[in-house]
Amino acid sequence: MDEATPRPLTSGRPSVPLQGRIAVPGDKSISHRALMFGALAIGETRITGLLTGEDVLRTAAAMRALGAEVIHDPDGTWRVAGRGIGGLTEPADVLDMGNSGTAARLLCGILASHPLFAVMTGDGSLRRRPMRRVIDPLSATGARFASREGGRLPLAIEGARDALPLDYRVPVPSAQVKSAILLAGLNAPGITRVEEPEATRDHSENMLRHFGATVSVEIAGAGRIIELQGQPELHAADVVVPGDPSSAAFPLVSALLVPGSKVTIPAVGLNPLRTGLFTCLQEMGANIAIVNRRVEGGEPVGDLEVTGGPLRAVDIPGERAPSMIDEYPVLAVAAACATGTTRLRGLKELRVKESDRLAATAALLSVNGAKVEIEGDDMIIHGTGAPPAGGGMVETHMDHRIAMSALVLGLATASPVAVDDAGFIDTSFPAFVDLMNGIGASIRPAR
Ligand code: S3P
Repeated sequence: MDEATPRPLTSGRPSVPLQGRIAVPGDKSISHRALMFGALAIGETRITGLLTGEDVLRTAAAMRALGAEVIHDPDGTWRVAGRGIGGLTEPADVLDMGNSGTAARLLCGILASHPLFAVMTGDGSLRRRPMRRVIDPLSATGARFASREGGRLPLAIEGARDALPLDYRVPVPSAQVKSAILLAGLNAPGITRVEEPEATRDHSENMLRHFGATVSVEIAGAGRIIELQGQPELHAADVVVPGDPSSAAFPLVSALLVPGSKVTIPAVGLNPLRTGLFTCLQEMGANIAIVNRRVEGGEPVGDLEVTGGPLRAVDIPGERAPSMIDEYPVLAVAAACATGTTRLRGLKELRVKESDRLAATAALLSVNGAKVEIEGDDMIIHGTGAPPAGGGMVETHMDHRIAMSALVLGLATASPVAVDDAGFIDTSFPAFVDLMNGIGASIRPAR
């Protein structure tokens, strides 16, 4: 992606309110995991609703390179013929995980307990991101890692022949690290135990059970202790991927910011460890009705009915961060259009996302005339009740969520907002521009 020609776009205030239905693509976290667990199971896993964004396509390609058969049928279903735990084979070439931290870190877990040699790389963004958070604990399985300075990709892995099970307390709230430990534990004897100080998304735990593993989860204060029985037989299982709440965030905030809008976003995943943004927006006075709640493929889902209207400032506690970690840029956009001073606390982890999202979000807002400060790990946004002026050119830093957040802001500002490169939106939400324009947005190539 980073070698591709940049795709600059601008977003302007629409002449009429946003109106209609917008179905967001499948959940990215669940999509990666469905392909990985499918490749580790015995039999054929069928996946419907899989995100076909570039990040997930990287995972599909990696699982193929490791010997699993991964087929995308013309009707949109994906089928994975798994190799069984420990059954993956050595890849003939470097595994390129593109822009995806989740793909890279979870794959480190799988490879740590497979006795094979693999080299992993990624694009310019991923090669800057810290991998030591998985390399250090996974090394205790007996796997050997060699990386660039600071634990950066490219990375060479020699998986353990007889991996040891881990007992690990994750020092940062990270579902990726937790999942890497659990995935390594699949091919280690005995119990793998992970303790997380704050609860993070539990899609790995849910999906492990769905594929037949024995997993126990104990609530421990704000965190959890997860135990996995090693070397289970994973059986192929059908997976229905819900709409991604992290992608729904963009049309949702758009509808809130354009007065008079009425937008429905159907079949959005409502796993309680993912819905922090909805809570925040409701605290800001947003009119969001969640209707038709149901369970699909083991995950709670519902339809969001959003009506545009004024928002007020909020003070968001750091404890909520894991349940909305990817939603801060677009929440900051909403806060910049609200009345009063919003404080978003405890955003340290934002510094190690696809970009330094704390800095990129602050720059996104200030270049468009909003007043924003960073104090330690907190972001403070001074809203006036009217959207900022706009007119800025936002640097997206190879970060899809910065690009989409900036384009959402442009729907509210008097002057259009431009982004230097919207190409990375394809990692998670390839149809974003067309779908947004379909409900009345005005997002166009920049001249
Ligand atoms: C993810 C976990 C989060 C999130 C990422 C997806 C996952 O990362 O930001 O987009 O699927 O496990 P961290 O675990 O680093 O917080």
